[in-house]
Amino acid sequence: MHFTGPAEQYDRFMGRYAPTLAAALADCAGVRPGMRVLDVGSGPGGLTRELASRVGAGSVAAVDPAPQFVAACRERNPGADVREGVAEELPWPDAAFDAALSALVMAFMRDPDRGVREMARVTRPGGTVAACMWDTTTGGMTMLDVFWTAARRVDPGVRGERRMAGTEEGDIARRLAGAGLENVLGGTLSARADYTGFEDFWEPFTFAIGPAGQFLRSLSAQRQADVRLACRAALPDGPFTLEARAWYARGTVSVPSAAR
Ligand SMILES: C[S@@+](CC[C@H](N)C(=O)[O-])C[C@H]1O[C@@H](n2cnc3c(N)ncnc32)[C@H](O)[C@@H]1O
Repeated sequence: MHFTGPAEQYDRFMGRYAPTLAAALADCAGVRPGMRVLDVGSGPGGLTRELASRVGAGSVAAVDPAPQFVAACRERNPGADVREGVAEELPWPDAAFDAALSALVMAFMRDPDRGVREMARVTRPGGTVAACMWDTTTGGMTMLDVFWTAARRVDPGVRGERRMAGTEEGDIARRLAGAGLENVLGGTLSARADYTGFEDFWEPFTFAIGPAGQFLRSLSAQRQADVRLACRAALPDGPFTLEARAWYARGTVSVPSAAR
């Protein structure tokens, strides 16, 4: 899926979850000073910033296919090696990193298994590969659950973001193990975002970002208004905070037996 909107709109839609989600994923991957790390599908750079705060921007690389996100990520993380490209063909040599991480990208890759194999290729033996995706299959990502529940009232047949790669329990771990990673561990990560009120929640959906925003854009004005009303009814008056659950998994790149 292509992300064509400006970085500032992404910030208001999904980027507001980055500070809490990125810190949780970096903790699970054991990112610490002295490591060289890669952010795959960086978007405007929420996870990149967290990685830079831990290891220094000069030890961080990032890649994304959306040119406007690459530009924003570069500007927000001076000194980081930010490149345009896709997970399936990472523009770095073998074993270039101690860890490769990816947040909220697997579902949007053309070939997620190839993306994971590439993350393993550019990570040194003994290094870590870690990825996460929102739990949109059982409704753990409240913002998207409120939206898709409302959308189903208007169009009961809508598929939403269920069963996309990485969004089902255990799916990321299975893909990491399938790519030959060892000691694979999985679980959940918690994130959250604050909203000043309903309009602060609703307006970013009208930017047509990701499956939810693009679905909304495809509806007639009347049906968009119906979805908005159903969302409004599901949320409180005044400011609120929404919780979000992501599935994650991490694994270790195997060390060749001769080197053990
Ligand atoms: C939901 S955003 C996540 C961005 C960021 N990682 C974050 O946590 O906010 C998905 C990102 O995946 C990128 N993307 C889509 N297809 C990709 C691919 N094949 N390889 C790498 N990134 C991809 C998009 O351009 C977009 O920036």
